[in-house]
Amino acid sequence: MERDLQPTSMIVIGGQWGDEGKGKVVDLLSAGVAAAVRFNGGNNAGHTVKFEDRHFALHFIPSGIIHGHVRCYMGAWMVIDPVGVLREIDGLGEQGVDVIGRLALSERATVILPTHRALDGAREAARGAGSIGTTRRGIGPAYQDRAQRRALTTGLLRKPRTFAEHAVRVMEAHNRELGLLYGAEPVDLEAARLELEEAAERLAPLVAEVGPQILGHLSRREPVLFEGAQGVMLDLFQGTYPYVTSSSCLPGAAAVSCGIPVRALGPAVGVMKAYVTRVGGGPFPTELDGATGDHLRKRGNEFGTTTGRPRRCGWFDAAAARYAARVAGLDGIALTKLDVLDDLDEIRVAVRYRGPDGAEYVEPPADLDTLGSLEPVYETLPGWHAETVGTLDAAALPARARAYVEFLERQVGVPVVLVSTGPRREETFILGRSPLAQMLKTLMTGLDQPGQKS
Ligand code: GDP
Ligand code: IMO
Ligand code: MG
Repeated sequence: MERDLQPTSMIVIGGQWGDEGKGKVVDLLSAGVAAAVRFNGGNNAGHTVKFEDRHFALHFIPSGIIHGHVRCYMGAWMVIDPVGVLREIDGLGEQGVDVIGRLALSERATVILPTHRALDGAREAARGAGSIGTTRRGIGPAYQDRAQRRALTTGLLRKPRTFAEHAVRVMEAHNRELGLLYGAEPVDLEAARLELEEAAERLAPLVAEVGPQILGHLSRREPVLFEGAQGVMLDLFQGTYPYVTSSSCLPGAAAVSCGIPVRALGPAVGVMKAYVTRVGGGPFPTELDGATGDHLRKRGNEFGTTTGRPRRCGWFDAAAARYAARVAGLDGIALTKLDVLDDLDEIRVAVRYRGPDGAEYVEPPADLDTLGSLEPVYETLPGWHAETVGTLDAAALPARARAYVEFLERQVGVPVVLVSTGPRREETFILGRSPLAQMLKTLMTGLDQPGQKS
């Protein structure tokens, strides 16, 4: 049964292990929205936007910011490094994108301190071979402090001196932990205090209660786009725990983060690559270690936007995608990087897993020991040996590429509504005529308002 679509809002999340191309998709759809909202994570995210010869990497700020008419919001479930956010704002300014005046930051988000970063690094080092492979941006330690109720919230940025003093007290405790538990060097608190106070002075005017502003757009029937970071399989609760991030990457998190009703979110689009990548540790049933994995990494330029680490590459995992679609309630898939498969002779898709006792699994089990004991069951499809880069409509797609997309749709049980065949904004087309496809088309072709610089 088709869900009642809220035509004024839409949520875009990662459907795999992150880096699916969310930045590209959100930027593309932002042509037709009034507001873009990031709701989880921090600068562990790296969202790439490309068009013509322009290239942007967003970490904290919603990818909608590139369109000059879009108002941007950052929700309470985010973790915010004040110095890092300012650096990003200044960097965008240098690239011709004015941020100040168009960005509001929830007063309830969690502050990342320099000592959170140091703790992240020290804990990863202490985990040795069992490390999670975090981005070392302090994400986990900041969320931990939030859960422990000793974190500083962004509302305190409005009082820069008090904020810096509180921050020093929290960092003193962190420094003790760094020394006693990990034998690590303490963070220089005086330098950190000065930097934080200065950052607070500049960020204070951006701090706001974001929920009513977002609902204001919706009540005026102005489209709002919610942008998830990471992906379903990295979700703290529904992902491959403990090899996950420390926030929720699912649509429901956007409502919690912004303090708005779940029904305000609209349909959910899951961005998925035509294959799979993962950065850091943790299970990856369809991982390819040999030449094909290297080919995908090279052709797909699979190196982290945030850390530059090579991404692990593998075949499309329909069992994981089916699971992601179920737990996130995906209404449609935005399939990216189809072009990366262009020169393969054959393409494999894991349609389910099989255990050592012959038992079959159509979704990944939560228990990682069990998951680790399973082998993917593959179906092999013929490659298309033709360039799909920059294909502008479905009719121009090689028949075998089209068959591959339809195979994935059947396996996952969710329609593919958007196909991306290159990193640039313009290298995208909408598939089908469903209400969701129509909505995407409307957003994509939305005329930019005056005042846009890029
Ligand atoms: P995100 O974290 O989901 O926003 O994704 P990232 O930006 O970290 O990684 C996606 C990478 O793939 C970026 O380098 C994009 O420029 C690139 N990309 C996105 N869509 C496509 C596509 O359809 N084809 C190709 N070749 N590259 C793409
Ligand atoms: P975007 O939004 C891919 C991974 C890390 C690590 C785990 C925990 O660009 O898709 P963390 O620093 O969050 O504590 O790391 O999660 N990870 C990502 N992988 N894309 C991301 O973001 C990621 N954010 C975190 O590599 O395995
Ligand atoms: Mg990324």
